[in-house]
Amino acid sequence: MSDPLLRWRSEFPIVDTCTYLVSHSLGAMPRRAVTYLQQFADEWSSRGVRAWHEGWWDIGRTTGDLLAPILGVPAGTISMHQNVTVAMAIIASCYRFDGPRRKIVLTDLEFPSNIYLFEGFRRYGAEIVRVKSDDAMRTNLERLLDAIDERTALVPLSYVLFRSAYIQKVDAVIEKAHRVGARVILDLYQAAGTVPLNVEASGADFAVGGSVKWLCGGPGAGYLYVRPDLAKGVEPGFVGWAAHAQPFQFVAEAIEYADAPERFQSGTPNVPSLYSARAGYEIVAEVGVQAIREKSLRLTRRMIDLAREAGWRVNTPDRDDERGGAVIVDVPDAEAAAAELIRHEVIVDYRPGAGIRMAPHFYNTVEEIEQAMETLSAIVEGRARGKE
Ligand SMILES: Cc1ncc(COP(=O)(O)O)c(C=O)c1O
Repeated sequence: MSDPLLRWRSEFPIVDTCTYLVSHSLGAMPRRAVTYLQQFADEWSSRGVRAWHEGWWDIGRTTGDLLAPILGVPAGTISMHQNVTVAMAIIASCYRFDGPRRKIVLTDLEFPSNIYLFEGFRRYGAEIVRVKSDDAMRTNLERLLDAIDERTALVPLSYVLFRSAYIQKVDAVIEKAHRVGARVILDLYQAAGTVPLNVEASGADFAVGGSVKWLCGGPGAGYLYVRPDLAKGVEPGFVGWAAHAQPFQFVAEAIEYADAPERFQSGTPNVPSLYSARAGYEIVAEVGVQAIREKSLRLTRRMIDLAREAGWRVNTPDRDDERGGAVIVDVPDAEAAAAELIRHEVIVDYRPGAGIRMAPHFYNTVEEIEQAMETLSAIVEGRARGKE
């Protein structure tokens, strides 16, 4: 069966050098990123300071607008930041934690930096509730919903869990949170660019993510969406001069906030990162997230079947509607086996408590998946024989 998405392979040089199955961690670099980074360098070199007024100063907004359709949010609702940690900190700085509504509820399966960041808000009076899951695959939804109450301020929630690729029941969480007056922050990192999203329709209050993974945008391009009706009324405490209504007046008083999305901006935008991110967003939009998703489901299904045939435990949901873009396979001595796979030029990663994470993206072939699984079989068998 011909696969029209494979015409994109020539845009990604790394796929000719190895079997690249790690887009859940670092998406392959598009050639177009080199073109845009060169453009940045040329502008810096030839236009100097004038470049700020020729596109650089507004690059957060223009880059956010390119990303908006991929997330399913309106233009003018996204600001750009270094990473998720910074975006989350900006959101949290909009709230107080010294009154009755001081709870931050999150599960123990959230990405660690979210846990570290919000734990740090205990010093401002926040009460941190960590909802335990029964296994490393899924959140216990009932327990999570029960923990969200009238004292809850924020619920940071991964749309897709990084450890298992489980797609969370975000609608149920948003519904409960809104019923009791709490705000939900969706972490879209493991979803954007591989799972079709309609964040506006979900009613989420905030959404954050980065561009390193499925978006193929490279590091330094984190994003922050704020629901437009909410954005008018929230004022970040973690703020810089780029958030001022008239930044070039350099007023040395308390800030007069710009409208959204600039009011969530900190200082000088991360221009080169946003040039490289643009390449990834354009390509993902051209390929189409729906087409990416259909192919991803086909290839991850094949991976799961092959892993089961080999007798390995799969720590990823079997159901298509519960599975993001990665497959996590646990084999004996998984960490060493992952290292050996990489030595065989099959690029994957390993996460403790989960196993080997592998992820096809739109530029991978089914043959690559089959060969990667064969190589893993040979590695596992070889190691078992070595121990006899
Ligand atoms: C769900 C999720 N959130 C956040 C991050 C990273 O956060 P940051 O952008 O702060 O490095 C990752 C992965 O690296 C992730 O998988």
